Amino acid sequence: MDDLRDKYLGLIAGATDEPTLEDLRVQAVGKKGEISLKMRELGKMTPEERQTAGPALNALKAEIASALSAKKAALEDVALDERLRGEWLDVTLPGRSRRQGTIHPISQVTEEVTAIFADMGFAVAEGPQIDSDWYNFDALNIPGHHPARAEMDTFYMHRAEGDNRPPHVLRTHTSPVQIRTMEKTGAPIRIIAPGRVYRADYDQTHTPMFHQVEGLAIDRDISMANLKWVLEEFVKAYFEVDDVELRFRASHFPFTEPSAEVDIRCSWEGGTLKVSEGDDWLEILGSGMVHPKVLENAGVNPNDWQGFAFGMGIDRIAMLKYGIPDLRAFFDSDLRWLRNYGFAALDVPTLHGGLS
Ligand code: PHE
Repeated sequence: MDDLRDKYLGLIAGATDEPTLEDLRVQAVGKKGEISLKMRELGKMTPEERQTAGPALNALKAEIASALSAKKAALEDVALDERLRGEWLDVTLPGRSRRQGTIHPISQVTEEVTAIFADMGFAVAEGPQIDSDWYNFDALNIPGHHPARAEMDTFYMHRAEGDNRPPHVLRTHTSPVQIRTMEKTGAPIRIIAPGRVYRADYDQTHTPMFHQVEGLAIDRDISMANLKWVLEEFVKAYFEVDDVELRFRASHFPFTEPSAEVDIRCSWEGGTLKVSEGDDWLEILGSGMVHPKVLENAGVNPNDWQGFAFGMGIDRIAMLKYGIPDLRAFFDSDLRWLRNYGFAALDVPTLHGGLS
């Protein structure tokens, strides 16, 4: 019996996994195990023999059972330790950074412009990007034969064959929003209309899609003086300077009379733009007093009302403020490019729900 004891205690001590341990249990104390068989032999013994062999066998069985369960617990501990080691988490590791979206410079500049004009009481108006010939041209006093049509490199939409109405166009400027707003609300009016416009043109300073912001102020006695003040306030706020000098150059637009193109005094010393110092002039917009015919076309009586309008290139003023040399970069570049010019995700709430 001592042999059995040594054999099994040795095997149990040497077991390295739970299946081996289970095999040993079956071999030793299972129904047909060695110790169970020995117990069955008790029946054939004399009572004297049985008296010593019985308790000894029971004790052996108990000893092996407790050795088995002790070993089982030990193996479970080892397994748990191993698992914990595998699942160990280094909380001091640096976190994995997430990619962060970045606001597009055009969106940011549109927000800035909208906020500045909002401070002066201008609301935001919108119109469609595909518009009729009437809204884009005729209503703005640009008749069919007018050279301005050709100058604008218009994209025309298709008409079905046999449909001889003039085709719709991708709007070439935001000025049709003047007409739509006057029609809808009547005078007085104080709005800006930012959005996309389209012309068939492509080089360093032109892309077939770009952005303008239209301004329109109509009231009983609005004058060029009001236009000048509004633009000065805008340029000062947008370029973050205390003072600015504007130059009104006589110009021509079919929808304004008189018309002026507006330049700002600046210097380009060292390749960077400084607004309101130096001897250079930078053209930023077209403007003028709304032509009486335009008011009339939009249902506003020119005998009672007058006002100014202007149209400014958003992309252009974004390039100037942020020192971006090539307009095309706005529309075919990625996040690295945006970062290069310092655009971070906006942490201020947007003023409007996305414009164009
Ligand atoms: N619509 C003109 C353009 O696209 C700009 C403009 C707007 C000029 C309003 C005068 C008044 O060039």
